[in-house]
Amino acid sequence: MSTYLLEMRDIVKRFPGVLAVNKAQLTLYPGEVHCLVGENGAGKSTLMKILSGAESLDSGQIFIDGNPVQIQSPHHAQLLGISMIYQEFNLSPYMSVAENIYLGREPRIGKTPFIDWRRMYAESRVLLQKMRIDIDVRRPINTCSVAQQQMVEIAKAISRNARIIVMDEPSATLTDHELEALFELIRELKTQGIGMIYISHRLEEIFQIGDRVTVMRDGQYVDTNPVHALDKEQIIRRMVGRDLTEEFPKEIFPIGRERLRVENLTRHGVFENISFSLREGEIVGLTGLVGAGRTEVARAIFGADPIDAGRIFLDGAEIHVRTPQDAIRQGIGLLTEDRKNQGLILAMTVRENTTLANLKTLVRFLFIDRHREREVTEKYIRELQIKTPSTEQIAQNLSGGTQQKVVLAKWLFSQSKILIFDEPTRGIDVGAKVEIYKLMNELLRKGVCILMISSELPEVLGMCDRILVMHEGRLAGELTRAEATQEGIMRLATGAGVPTKTT
Ligand SMILES: Nc1ncnc2c1ncn2[C@@H]1O[C@H](COP(=O)(O)OP(=O)(O)OP(=O)(O)O)[C@@H](O)[C@H]1O
Ligand SMILES: [Mg+2]
Repeated sequence: MSTYLLEMRDIVKRFPGVLAVNKAQLTLYPGEVHCLVGENGAGKSTLMKILSGAESLDSGQIFIDGNPVQIQSPHHAQLLGISMIYQEFNLSPYMSVAENIYLGREPRIGKTPFIDWRRMYAESRVLLQKMRIDIDVRRPINTCSVAQQQMVEIAKAISRNARIIVMDEPSATLTDHELEALFELIRELKTQGIGMIYISHRLEEIFQIGDRVTVMRDGQYVDTNPVHALDKEQIIRRMVGRDLTEEFPKEIFPIGRERLRVENLTRHGVFENISFSLREGEIVGLTGLVGAGRTEVARAIFGADPIDAGRIFLDGAEIHVRTPQDAIRQGIGLLTEDRKNQGLILAMTVRENTTLANLKTLVRFLFIDRHREREVTEKYIRELQIKTPSTEQIAQNLSGGTQQKVVLAKWLFSQSKILIFDEPTRGIDVGAKVEIYKLMNELLRKGVCILMISSELPEVLGMCDRILVMHEGRLAGELTRAEATQEGIMRLATGAGVPTKTT
């Protein structure tokens, strides 16, 4: 057996009240894609932050090419050839692609302090060509798509001689098409002997791109296997420690009266003439390709963006929603897809975030009933299996998926009548997804209606009663639960027309 490019042995990392990583291990061969999976809060990101020098370790050993190393800082990790691609990219928005790649190391003209632009552009072009990335190197980075920015980040890592690249949920914000391009790039890097660690909650991806898979549970190492030796169920069992009986625990409720209706909602250039209704007891899916305008429709109903035309009715009466505060007052809640920036206040505690949208119900004699507040929060921590040492943990210190659960708790507690969920299970582990679906059933039972925006077709097919499909800012069609198929949705979403009905 050849020597490992990387070996992490018995890594331990403790935070106040949390044993985040408990004797974890990981090995990586040159040219290997090693998938790292586990539930929310299992310690994946923390283990990778230790590798990239962003966190220190309490104990354990790291070897590169068989030699022990002590990683002191992100800069030191970079010198050792380790690079981590974060979800929030470290790019300078107004600079070009080339400038970003060479930031801080720009080639100079001779011994002068002047940047050799020609050489910088030429070298970046060669680099991108070598990686088969087709982006104009002079383009300002803020005009590139998220997927392109991610590729530039990877190019930057390669230009700094990275041999180990960590990708922490790189696919979360990519379209299918972009994901395929990322996989192409990963395959190319494999041939160059680069080792990659790939974290994702979308287990299908493991089978598409991974060589080996390591499972972590509660900070601990479970095991490592070649990808082809396991199937999805076996991976899930290792992650959650039990079998998942039902992936989509859909309950059908009697459909009641209409609660929300939107008529001809229009925002010029973004979406046109959107009309639909939501009735008691149903989950309506809103799907389509990324960029079709789904999130924009949700934001308009929630009062976060203005509309040019159209009307919104709640329980038969027209309402005018000009701000999110208006919407919340009317009983409409929106779980945004961009939770970090819009859903959570990172500096506040789990308790404060949970009760934020409905504090008034906790007020007694002008004061907030702290005891009740804590009880409420504890209830959601139990129900959603929110991994936190206490109600008083700062949201910033929670794992990515756990933060999303807190935003969900906030909207569950808000007592909204209409809930719009934008990609509610993105970044959420398989076990917790099922819990969230069960909570949706509970909400329906209480008469809430749900509009669920989702790009994950199995989820849409598994949980929705009706499915609206958008294509380029318009409603391309509506399918009932019975008639919807993956193929039918894709036809509508890509503008290929109405699917032929099967019986
Ligand atoms: N800076 C910190 N302070 C306190 N606790 C932390 C800190 N960073 C992480 N943790 C805790 O360490 C544990 C592991 O978190 P980590 O982010 O590594 O999980 P993860 O496996 O990446 O989860 P996810 O799939 O949700 O991203 C969690 O309980 C988390 O709350
Ligand atoms: Mg993480």
